[in-house]
Amino acid sequence: MRIKKLSTIVANQIAAGEVIERPVSIIKELVENSLDAGSDSIDIKLVNGGKSLISIKDNGDGIFKDDLKLSLVKHATSKITTSNDLLYLSSLGFRGEALSSICSISRIMISSIKNGEKQGWQIYNEFDSMDTNIKLSNILEGTLIEVRDMFYNIPARLKFLKSDKTEYINVEKLITAYAISNPHVSFSLSHNGKLLKKFNRVTDNNDVEKRLSLILGKRFIDNNSYFKSTFEKIVLSGWVVNPDINLPSCQFVFLNGRVIKDKVVNHAIKQAYKRYDIINQNYIIFVDLPKDQVDINVHPSKYEVRFSNNRILHDFLVSTLSNMLIKNHKIKNEVSLDLSNDNQCTSIKEHTTTNYKTEEDEKGCIGQQENIKLESLNSYPSLIDAKRKKLEPSRIHYFDAYERNETQNSLTNNFGVNPENRIDNNILGKPITLINGYCVMLTCENRLKVVSLLKVSKALCAQKIKNHGLESKPLLIPYKLNFNELVSNKQRDYMEVLGFKFKLLENYLTFTHVPNILKDKKLDQYLEEFVRIFCLEQNFIFKNNSDLFENFTDFIVKQAPKINNLSEAIHMIACLESEFEQETQVILDTVTTELNLEELIGQNLL
Ligand SMILES: Nc1ncnc2c1ncn2[C@@H]1O[C@H](COP(=O)(O)OP(=O)(O)OP(=O)(O)O)[C@@H](O)[C@H]1O
Ligand SMILES: [Mg+2]
Repeated sequence: MRIKKLSTIVANQIAAGEVIERPVSIIKELVENSLDAGSDSIDIKLVNGGKSLISIKDNGDGIFKDDLKLSLVKHATSKITTSNDLLYLSSLGFRGEALSSICSISRIMISSIKNGEKQGWQIYNEFDSMDTNIKLSNILEGTLIEVRDMFYNIPARLKFLKSDKTEYINVEKLITAYAISNPHVSFSLSHNGKLLKKFNRVTDNNDVEKRLSLILGKRFIDNNSYFKSTFEKIVLSGWVVNPDINLPSCQFVFLNGRVIKDKVVNHAIKQAYKRYDIINQNYIIFVDLPKDQVDINVHPSKYEVRFSNNRILHDFLVSTLSNMLIKNHKIKNEVSLDLSNDNQCTSIKEHTTTNYKTEEDEKGCIGQQENIKLESLNSYPSLIDAKRKKLEPSRIHYFDAYERNETQNSLTNNFGVNPENRIDNNILGKPITLINGYCVMLTCENRLKVVSLLKVSKALCAQKIKNHGLESKPLLIPYKLNFNELVSNKQRDYMEVLGFKFKLLENYLTFTHVPNILKDKKLDQYLEEFVRIFCLEQNFIFKNNSDLFENFTDFIVKQAPKINNLSEAIHMIACLESEFEQETQVILDTVTTELNLEELIGQNLL
């Protein structure tokens, strides 16, 4: 078959597949829009599990008449303007894709009245048809969106929907999650004409308990412990339910108020519970961290996220939850706390329930752990105080192709990189492309240059060691490796000079400290190989400390993962500029090769 371009309608249907999988995905998008519009009352109605009808009514800011049409256009949003805004997202939505995706797989009707306007308006669209006309509406406040007959134009997708009951249960769970993280918002949920859930909003932090009891039942309230813990800028808070109590599944994780499904967070939670073989795993966990330390723009559904420092968050979560489980619940004394799960922790035999502290706890590395009773819920993730900030009545605008590409390419893998801080074009040139993950090609005044990223990485690493030395950094959770060999005194000395601290016990080598240069790296990627090279290859002799540092730098550079995209590479070169300041040009010369175009032309090679 010959290649041909898909029609816009089919292309949109395919793209919609990433956002809309089933009724609950539509409801997620619509509820998030209502929350972003500053609503404090959201009513959801479903017919046939949402397959025939989903209706959401809110009392938010509403949509301007002139923006109604644009709200259904792909990449049209009122929530961000430039790619820079992605670094500090305060809204749940930002991609300008949800309504257009819903529109391409269903019949959609939006009635809305903009706050302060006298008249409301309505728009209707059927399966992406272009003829949308706007009519008067008698809506009195906020926005009402009705979505009918989802996937009727795509039978292949329709058959993947589950029974009405299962689809309803998925929706109920999502609304429960939003009701937990938004106590200042009333939610109601009806199915086939029956009101099944109603959670009234609370305006006082002291009433949060009542609201939780309404959502999750009295047994949840009677058997939980509240926690709040801070490490660097990460704040973890929430409730763990006493493991002795068997409740219907209650597992909720929120990131900056957003419902997420994240592998790093889930792994950490499982690991903490696994330490004590706890079967009843019920919790509500709020992870709050600075907006520029997390990338939400990973997948259109926005369930997946990427953290700028996975490992610290993971270890902090394991440690906080473990402390909670051991301190607040009746874990039997005879339970032997083997913290060696997943081969990452030291083996500690503890026989008291209250004294569990890691070495790092003693030094205050884990942060302040406050155990606050539910009665004093003033520090409930400040959700009421921080009632979702109403967005400025900004107009919906088309997020143009340049911005979109920036969104997709530049920032996805690159945290905290202000595009304005990028590589200075005057010094090196304009980056054109990444070659093979190891080189960047640049142009500068009709010249072509290639920068070796391996050399950049090595220069950066060596400079960091020179400027900051190889201080030891304690690990939140010691890292444990199977090891049955002897470590000679010489090898011990080398490792200590580099900043490693470890214990060799019962066939395990357990690292408690690593050099600070490794602190942000994935340890499993580095430590195993380090031990293989530095401990097992017995005849490793270094002339002096500089020789040792140089070999260690080479080792780190070799282990570093391949660079994935141009913006990551630019970020790396930009780091070189800031690390070297005055000497930048000298260093850049050592990592750059210029292609002599005139010579190549002279030799008839171009
Ligand atoms: N319930 C609502 N109240 C007020 N404005 C709304 C509502 N729903 C949608 N809008 C407006 O329509 C625009 C498009 O909505 P849509 O959900 O498609 O995109 P988004 O929320 O900007 O981004 P995302 O695709 O990430 O959800 C929004 O930016 C907002 O201005
Ligand atoms: Mg949205």
